Amino acid sequence: MKNNGGRLRHQIVLVPCPFQGHITPMLQLGHILHSKGFSITVVHTQFNSPNPIHHPHFRFLSIPDGLSDQIIASGNILTILSLINVNCRAHFKQVLADQIGSEIVCCVIYDELMYFSEFAANQLNVSSIILRTTSAATCLGRVAFHRLKQQGLIPFQDSMLQSPVPDLQPFRFKDLPTPFSRNMEAFLALVHNAYSNRTSSAIIWNTMECLDEFSLAQIRQESHIPIFPIGPLHKIASSSSSTSLLKEDIGCIEWLDKQANNSVLYVSWGSVATADDQEIAEMAWGLVNSKQPFLWVVRPGLIRGSQWIEAFPEGLTEAVGERGCIVKWVPQKKVLGHGAVGGFLSHCGWNSVLESICEGIPMICKPNFGDQRVNARYVSHVWRIGLEMDDEMERGNIEIAVRRLMVEEEGLELRKNAKILKDKVEAGLQNGGPSSNSLNDLAAKIMSF
Ligand code: UDX
Repeated sequence: MKNNGGRLRHQIVLVPCPFQGHITPMLQLGHILHSKGFSITVVHTQFNSPNPIHHPHFRFLSIPDGLSDQIIASGNILTILSLINVNCRAHFKQVLADQIGSEIVCCVIYDELMYFSEFAANQLNVSSIILRTTSAATCLGRVAFHRLKQQGLIPFQDSMLQSPVPDLQPFRFKDLPTPFSRNMEAFLALVHNAYSNRTSSAIIWNTMECLDEFSLAQIRQESHIPIFPIGPLHKIASSSSSTSLLKEDIGCIEWLDKQANNSVLYVSWGSVATADDQEIAEMAWGLVNSKQPFLWVVRPGLIRGSQWIEAFPEGLTEAVGERGCIVKWVPQKKVLGHGAVGGFLSHCGWNSVLESICEGIPMICKPNFGDQRVNARYVSHVWRIGLEMDDEMERGNIEIAVRRLMVEEEGLELRKNAKILKDKVEAGLQNGGPSSNSLNDLAAKIMSF
């Protein structure tokens, strides 16, 4: 048991899923709970381990994940997750047992994809809570796959893509959170495991009533355990410590400082998506031809088969010139909060969408896979704070989309809507608002274990 100035601190064990879009919200949750008086231990895989230097108040414990270099290099997320859930189970149980032997452990909070944690917690009589890092609408979309499969609608034909999904407003078939692999059985098994509550006592959700109200209400009707929507976590966490796995290029802020207000399009595809060199060249020419300034994150590994942008076709780097700033990784929240940024061309990962909403930045949606399609549908058709780009990655489409958002009347309307949604979210974050009430209820729940 740890003593904090005479006060007993209760320990919470966090188990993040080792991908950037999952590590970030878990660490943010850790900071929030730490500010409520809990001590935080992060148990993580060796693969994509978080950097402890930025979180000196947390204890970090690594467990072997048994992932070979070959599996990691394959980028096959389904396989990686399945292996982690098998390989980490016994190691986690041992680490948890050691913690219980030395301190009060009030609960384990685990990413929905790290469901091995629940088995160990249950066996050791420790309460567990699930953290869901994607939207509640995504949960409904994923769970619907089982029903659609039984109805013989999966795999769905190209001719169905624009049709509405029965009983699943506002989705068309093309908006469903499709698997990141062709292995439908493995995907369905993962969905089943991720959305089974098992013996867990509650669910924390990185979302907010005003963004996900309808889906949360529907899920609550069927849930036997309390749901705490405590989001957007990055706005509630008082710490701005970096959660990045990659080194952030701070120089881009200086470049932004030289640009006019609302003039820059920020472009990023997050931490997982990849593209071939042809698609990236089309994107580059589309951005250049739009004649708008742009800040573009080309993550090392984004272009399949390339280290970085060495495969850019001849003449492209010169064409980008002063108009564009291309970097490997940025402090994204700072970038979106910079006055020069007026739009975000995004793959629509849930964290990026939340971060954009919180800064009132309208978006161009270019989803790749999974929940990104759901989020894109919400951005363009539910909240109406962005426009959806044509599926084909072609320079003409890109140029048109950029000009619609950054130059034309339509963009002004989307910016206005984004500002209204930002204000709504800010109101919900105030003391006494739904997210802060949810957080207090969660802290009370944890103390009751
Ligand atoms: C993945 C999935 O792809 C996404 O759909 C799911 O919702 C979460 O897991 P990712 O693709 O990385 O995540 O997207 P996103 O959820 O947007 O998370 C990316 C994070 O990286 C964001 O918090 C963003 O701020 C950060 N980021 C991105 C940087 O800090 N710097 C960058 O240059 C780019």
